[in-house]
Amino acid sequence: MNIPQVILPNGDPMPAYGQGTWHMGESRGRRADEVAALKLGIDLGITLIDTAEMYGNGVAEEIVAEAAENRRDKLFIVSKVLPYNASRKGTVDACERSLKRLKTDRIDLYLLHWTGSHPFTETLAGFETLQRQGKIRHHGVSNFDRKDMDEWVRAGGEAVASNQILYNLARRGPEWEVLPWCRQRKVSIMAYSPIEQGRMLGHKTLAEVGARHGATPAQVALAWLLRQDEMIVIPKASRQEHVRENLGALDLKLGDDDLADLNKAFPPPKGRTALGML
Ligand SMILES: NC(=O)c1ccc[n+]([C@@H]2O[C@H](COP(=O)([O-])OP(=O)(O)OC[C@H]3O[C@@H](n4cnc5c(N)ncnc54)[C@H](OP(=O)(O)O)[C@@H]3O)[C@@H](O)[C@H]2O)c1
Repeated sequence: MNIPQVILPNGDPMPAYGQGTWHMGESRGRRADEVAALKLGIDLGITLIDTAEMYGNGVAEEIVAEAAENRRDKLFIVSKVLPYNASRKGTVDACERSLKRLKTDRIDLYLLHWTGSHPFTETLAGFETLQRQGKIRHHGVSNFDRKDMDEWVRAGGEAVASNQILYNLARRGPEWEVLPWCRQRKVSIMAYSPIEQGRMLGHKTLAEVGARHGATPAQVALAWLLRQDEMIVIPKASRQEHVRENLGALDLKLGDDDLADLNKAFPPPKGRTALGML
């Protein structure tokens, strides 16, 4: 499978499609299935994996390590520091704990999970130390609205490589401000919960559009995101059939009629709305 790439502001490529891991590592009984799903994704050519120190209290990162065994070098691993750890020293310490759990010497993209009480200058100082030491390759943010992005840049964060946000057909608010802000600066956008955690899949328009192409509702929702510039999509699947199905979105090209129907069923924002968060 040929996965498309986006180009980060410094010119490095990043895969536009990856595997999410939220809720992995929360139940021992599901661990083998979670590892197997991630491994299948890697076998099928999905090299981007998104995780966080928060997920499963660190266990999701261990699951990523297990799935990545002997294949670390071909992967692009994203992890995140929790806001309450995001002081200068706390960021460095959190990253080192993540590196241990991930059984690797570097994280490809390290994000501040959401805004907290530590000044951005502190978190950025931590990110810069980690980058100098080769422990992270790129850094960025998550759940940042436009005003947070402005503040981040003012604090010295011009090198921001990505903003990971809640964005899907049913959550189009970011189209008003934060997506244009990112696109203008070539900052990549990671769309999380791209199928709204499964809740949107019963929508009749997704089924109708899918039927024209022999595609499923999940594939339509993912293809709608994948056609957009700077967009990176990270569906989570712990079932192998979901991994295969979702990857099929890369072969689906939506036409003008499809896009018009989707716009009608899931209208774009008519004004500014606060960025959602799950
Ligand atoms: N930065 C943040 O604050 C933030 C917040 C939320 C998420 N994220 C990241 O984004 C990733 C994706 O978001 P998400 O996990 O919230 O939601 P999601 O990817 O929209 O949906 C995941 C859920 O949908 C199910 N699913 C997957 N493919 C399916 C299909 N083809 N048909 C039916 N159901 C399907 C999964 O089930 P199974 O697992 O049973 O296969 C799982 O329950 C996360 O895992 C995480 O890495 C980041």
